[in-house]
Amino acid sequence: MKLKEHINTLIAQALKQASITVDKVSVTEATKPEFGDYQFNGIMPLAKTLRRNPREIAEDVVALIDTTDAISKVEVAGPGFINIWLNPLWVAKRVEEMLQGERVGVEISTNPQEVIVDYSGPNMAKEMHVGHLRSTIIGDTLANLFSFLGDSVVRQNHIGDWGTQFGMLIAYLEEQSVNSMENLKDLEEFYKSAKKRFDESEEFALKARDYVVKIQSGDAHCLRLWQNFIDISLQHCEEVYEKLSVKLTRDDVRAESFYNKRLPQVVSKLQESGALQVSKGAKCVFLEGQETPVIVQKGDGGYLYATTDLASLWYRSEVLDANRVVYVVDARQAEHFKQVFRISKENGLVKESTNLEHIAFGTMMDKGGKPFKTRDGGTVKLINLLDEAVIRAKKSIREPQNHSEEELNTLAKTIGIGAIKYADLSINRESNYIFDWDKMLSLEGNTSLYQQYAYARIMSIFRKYDGEIGSEIIIATPIEHTLSIALLRFEDILLRASKDASPHQITTYLYEVATLFMRFYEQNPILKEEIDEPTKQSRLALALLTSKVIKQGLDILGIEVVDRI
Ligand code: ARG
Repeated sequence: MKLKEHINTLIAQALKQASITVDKVSVTEATKPEFGDYQFNGIMPLAKTLRRNPREIAEDVVALIDTTDAISKVEVAGPGFINIWLNPLWVAKRVEEMLQGERVGVEISTNPQEVIVDYSGPNMAKEMHVGHLRSTIIGDTLANLFSFLGDSVVRQNHIGDWGTQFGMLIAYLEEQSVNSMENLKDLEEFYKSAKKRFDESEEFALKARDYVVKIQSGDAHCLRLWQNFIDISLQHCEEVYEKLSVKLTRDDVRAESFYNKRLPQVVSKLQESGALQVSKGAKCVFLEGQETPVIVQKGDGGYLYATTDLASLWYRSEVLDANRVVYVVDARQAEHFKQVFRISKENGLVKESTNLEHIAFGTMMDKGGKPFKTRDGGTVKLINLLDEAVIRAKKSIREPQNHSEEELNTLAKTIGIGAIKYADLSINRESNYIFDWDKMLSLEGNTSLYQQYAYARIMSIFRKYDGEIGSEIIIATPIEHTLSIALLRFEDILLRASKDASPHQITTYLYEVATLFMRFYEQNPILKEEIDEPTKQSRLALALLTSKVIKQGLDILGIEVVDRI
């Protein structure tokens, strides 16, 4: 149900009848219950142009608002705000409809977009780090969200599998005759040893350099070694994906190397459009207003990260026919994306109408406020981090005796992985975020466990009740009214979160819903004997809808629910 849009239309009609023209009417949720359910604050800015007292204008508009259907009451407040109350009978009908539909009241988009979500993007030379964890979690959620709303989504894992360091790595791989993930357990260590060898032995360094040239010129032996290395490294990532249950697969991999043959074409395209200049032997693009140019080809013929991204932008626009391309990458790459987006648009690599968005996120910090590292300053192995989450979650289960060992393990995984994901998704993605085990596994506050408990509580109600669940909603108490409106806002929230590519809007909303439900449940007993049948049925229906919204919301976040904890 597009609730806000519906109310906006009613207000717009009244404004029209009052012969007041506005570009766009936008009501907001009321900040306090005494201000009603929604507020319209758009009168004040009109007063100046109309040269009238805003309160008087508001009085005129209020007299014209239709209060026979969705809206039951309107009032002018303060200097010219309009407070809006929704009609409980109308709200009840909409909740009933939401309950009956298959998609928790959320329509499939009538204007679906072709969306590319570029996320995860680990570098094959090294261990995947926490920045990639954030990208993976946020990106997967956005891809889920867009596809739930009806967009056609293409996931792209832009892995870093090309560059000079691979010469050194495959030379070392060959020397050590490593051929499986088993004997390449620790990429970070492997990299360090290879580097050490490179620095110490002139002969090895020569070979490593020679191998770089050989991979680039397509030498079969070196390419085989390289492919073997990438396979092993990618398996490490896939282990993380598997544990996180994110939906990335091998098919989604479009590695940097995939764009190799397109790189010379990027350069010629830029040459044709007159964007290229040679500076100190390198081919560069100077962007207006910027001092340092973007280098697309070095003097020695080598290409750069930016060139590959230009090629991938081109590919995504031309071959994948994208309308929207979303890059879920660390905020520290903001400048890079600004530049490649500009170059690709200004030189026709990407259609003017394609939306290019850098979905930036902040750094993951430890409790002391420092970037998240191991004690000796190294990269935290993500696999260990995820395993620890599951172990901690298992310890946090309050009544383990109620579960079999197998159940406990599944539960621990659902809670632990859910906690890691939710903690990341629930803060504004652009902020740095503090990784705090105790907070993320807490039952108090805005956590996944809180949501999972709320859901399990509702399921326990239904375990105690084996009758029919009615479909008629009766809104008799203020909390039923508030909870119902919150549930109706689900589609508004998802649409907004999709537009802003901002998962934390969903978690904030889910927290509100779960909290309202808890309050509703305290104040409105459901299964007590003295409750009359229609009231019981209605409350059960509200509980059921709440569980559906929580489940669907968490599903978009890639978090599972459980029937009992
Ligand atoms: N491999 C990059 C890194 O680790 C991230 C890739 C992001 N995607 C892109 N199209 N540049 O920083």
